[in-house]
Amino acid sequence: MRVVQVFGRSTRSLEEAPDGRGVLVVDQTRLPFAFERVRVDTLAGAADAISRMVVRGAPLIGVTAAYGLALALAADPSDTGLSAAVATLAATRPTAVNLRWALERVRARAVAAAPSARFDVAWREARAIAEEDVAMCARIGEHGLALLRDVAARSSGAPIRLLTHCNAGWLAAVDWGTALAPIYRAYDEGLPVHVFADETRPRNQGASLTAWELAAHGVPVTLVADNAAGHLLQRGEIDACIVGADRVTRRGDVANKIGTYLKALAARAHGVPFWVALPASTIDWTLDDGARIPIEERSEDEVLRVAGRAEDGRVVRVAVAPPGVRARNPAFDVTPAALVTALVTERGSCAASEEGLLSLYPERRPA
Ligand code: MRU
Repeated sequence: MRVVQVFGRSTRSLEEAPDGRGVLVVDQTRLPFAFERVRVDTLAGAADAISRMVVRGAPLIGVTAAYGLALALAADPSDTGLSAAVATLAATRPTAVNLRWALERVRARAVAAAPSARFDVAWREARAIAEEDVAMCARIGEHGLALLRDVAARSSGAPIRLLTHCNAGWLAAVDWGTALAPIYRAYDEGLPVHVFADETRPRNQGASLTAWELAAHGVPVTLVADNAAGHLLQRGEIDACIVGADRVTRRGDVANKIGTYLKALAARAHGVPFWVALPASTIDWTLDDGARIPIEERSEDEVLRVAGRAEDGRVVRVAVAPPGVRARNPAFDVTPAALVTALVTERGSCAASEEGLLSLYPERRPA
């Protein structure tokens, strides 16, 4: 299966370094103005890359943490070292459950091995998580493509107009992405698609990442201010919304980037389908109620300042509020299952409900 193209070249957000003692990740803090990879080869480096959002997006956070744990074991394979590394990485970002899920997978493998074998065992598990993520996202693409074909069948050749929020593309995973995977598949198959990308204040992942990666692949994309989405939905200018998720409860409540909830409300008000794409690693089977999902609060600086490229080409940060003003910066919100038309997973699409999820993951049904 071909991977997403960046200006004609197949590209992943994270690759193993040739020496097998680190990973090379796309520095997402530098996009869209520079496309650069940085090397992560220590526990501290992995924790820093996740906290500063050099890497971000639920699946990629999990994969990076998995490699970070392996790298920690290269330096200290003791039981104490293992526990401390898990705690350090788990504390980097609280909302995306993929982080905890990946750490637990690697920890369980490592703890069962002798300390001298722990790095190798953990590295192989991290690689397996990365490869599984690519495969899951590819399958999400196939299942989401079926939904897009249905829309296309009703739109008599006109472009399918899709609204997305934040970035749930290959930059947020290892390849393909979740919400953008069906869009890449549709585009590659010649289905006419047009994406409206919310800018996604405060960090502008829609503007700096989604618009960039779609355009780099050739997918038609129009950037809209976050506040424009309701207007477009009201005017019938959007055929469907598709977003990713950072955590989905067993009953189908969805934590995703702040602002997702408002889009879901507007979509429901105007009868527009609201789809959420996610791999199994994003489902938190321990939580029923979305209100219990921990919501990350980030620095107020992200709200008070924006980064951009000045006329002279320099990338600068500028204030957008008067000195002394305080800000709140909840990074995620929860869209109740009732507002979600369908969950699109690697096993297919289902209703956003416990029964819907259990129909795809019967092994999770309580005995
Ligand atoms: O704060 P971020 O940029 O890590 O938030 C990312 C999102 O909210 C994505 O929509 C989500 O992780 C799904 S990624 C496939």
